[in-house]
Amino acid sequence: MTHDAIAVVDFGGQYAHLIATKIRKAKVFAEIVDPEAPLEVFRKFKGIVLSGSPALSSKGEASDYNHEIFGLEVPILGICFGHQEIAKHYGGKVVHGGREWGYAIFRRLVEHPLFDGWEAEEQVFMSHFDSVVEVGEGFVEAGRSRVGEGVDEQRFSAVINDKVRRYGVQFHPEVDDTVKGDILLANFAIKICGCKPTWTMENFLEAKIQETREFVKDGSVFLLVSGGVDSTVTALIVARALGGDKLHLLHIDNGLMRKDESKAVLRQLEALGLQKNLHFVDAGDEFLKRLEGVFDPEQKRRVIGDTFVEVFKREAERFLSQECFLAQGTIYPDMIETGGTKRADTIKTHHNRVPLIRKMIEEGRVVEPLRELYKSEVRELGALLGLPKEVLARHPFPGPGLGVRCLCARGDERADQEVASRFLEVCKKYGWEGFVLPIKSVGVKADLRSYEFAGVLWGGRYEELDEGVVSAILKEVEGINRCAYLLYPEKPLEVVVRRAYVTKERLDMLREADSIVDEVLRKHGIYDQIWQCPVVALPISFGSGGLETIVTRPVQSSRGMTARAYRFPEPVLHELKSRLSSLPFISAVLVDLTSKPPGTIEWE
Ligand code: XMP
Repeated sequence: MTHDAIAVVDFGGQYAHLIATKIRKAKVFAEIVDPEAPLEVFRKFKGIVLSGSPALSSKGEASDYNHEIFGLEVPILGICFGHQEIAKHYGGKVVHGGREWGYAIFRRLVEHPLFDGWEAEEQVFMSHFDSVVEVGEGFVEAGRSRVGEGVDEQRFSAVINDKVRRYGVQFHPEVDDTVKGDILLANFAIKICGCKPTWTMENFLEAKIQETREFVKDGSVFLLVSGGVDSTVTALIVARALGGDKLHLLHIDNGLMRKDESKAVLRQLEALGLQKNLHFVDAGDEFLKRLEGVFDPEQKRRVIGDTFVEVFKREAERFLSQECFLAQGTIYPDMIETGGTKRADTIKTHHNRVPLIRKMIEEGRVVEPLRELYKSEVRELGALLGLPKEVLARHPFPGPGLGVRCLCARGDERADQEVASRFLEVCKKYGWEGFVLPIKSVGVKADLRSYEFAGVLWGGRYEELDEGVVSAILKEVEGINRCAYLLYPEKPLEVVVRRAYVTKERLDMLREADSIVDEVLRKHGIYDQIWQCPVVALPISFGSGGLETIVTRPVQSSRGMTARAYRFPEPVLHELKSRLSSLPFISAVLVDLTSKPPGTIEWE
């Protein structure tokens, strides 16, 4: 079955993904497309949405997109920046000014299918510096907005031209603060573009089963299973497509798993009826040998990814006489963040996109049934396939495992003095003490990868640390992309970084700390409230005994593309502090306070 689809042109804001997920919720398939994509790419869609952007339309920024799309007959809806670009293209005028930020009341001036289900006035969310002040011929002003009572209305908050089928809204229908935004997006896709709402999880599942059967034909499929939702759902789809005989599952203990995790994974797969060809290999020593003396995060990821494929190939040969296909639980954000689309800078190389696997993809030997899905959709699909709640609600765990949570150092790293004194100065301005760690972590700034120092705040109570202060500090200090709170000890004595790479000893320590955090979060009912809480080891001591600094990184997120630092309630903080600090190898405990951007969720 083919589905009608909408293209969402990504002008660089992270909101493009929200637009796509909201349209998909209306059962119409939506895909992210590069602004420079050739016309052939756009032709398969029944409608186009132009997303918002940090660029200024009034100044002609980000204008190097494919303008030929305006020659297409399909409807186009512009949002914010997209709205302004449509106005400009058809003879209107956009100026720098008329900034609105936050909630606004939208007052509709016309009746139109785009606004079916909307009252005459609705709450919307605004975030713009530029404004449309004139529209070209044939465009109708469809609504105005005001950011508060007694404030002048802003014109052209929505425009409509049914003749050329171009529509624009200045507000953001994709964010929840625009209360009926999802209705508007559904109206656009279904009523204006005429898409049939056929993209349901049931249909998706049937299609993937069929597709997998046709792709693999008589071959066998080999799938590495980590125990996470993505690989488990992939296994169930392939098993439904081919039957258990042709599906070989391999769980590799790469030595980078959590405490007792491999045993639990095997038990879980057996319980799902996937025990037929379930293989297990303990390759921990091999991975650790290859990681000896590796310090750079990207190199670590490459080594882990390559070793994975080597072990996989070797094991596959043991089990299969003929060439086999490789199935992977790759999901949509994994592809985007590894530079899968042209626009996305490579922020981190996900292990399912290392060169060896890229080659297999080119040879047509890789099956990835979940590659179009967001995490929330994979969970929905998992529920449909009967996965128990514990599996569905499991926090994501990166393919390279604790390898990317065990930070390494050569031992001679020093924090940049200029950055350090600027950081202290800004912290003091906000009433805090602060220092910069002699170690860098990965972040994402303006959609590009950053690799910068982490700052630590101390000298006050965690509960009193305002979220706004943290983001102000991150904005004001160049050279840091992350801020954490010093939970233990109370103040830093002597911060020393030592030479360390990924070793079994360090991993065992990290596993111990990680399992305590996991236990505490579950006990206090926090586990289900958050997206994830990576626990990270830094080879840094604080002059307080112990070798490692442990960082907890609780975050709330709905897709992992952006995230907000979660704040631990007092009892949780208290228990984490007392239990972690009593471990003999722990020198300090930090709580990461950084949102994404500018920090990524994982430190590497
Ligand atoms: P970042 O750190 O990029 O993480 O903000 C976003 C989400 O992706 C997970 N993650 C990975 N998952 N392979 C994976 O399967 C990887 O290499 C990888 N790196 C990060 C991370 O845990 C978070 O949920």
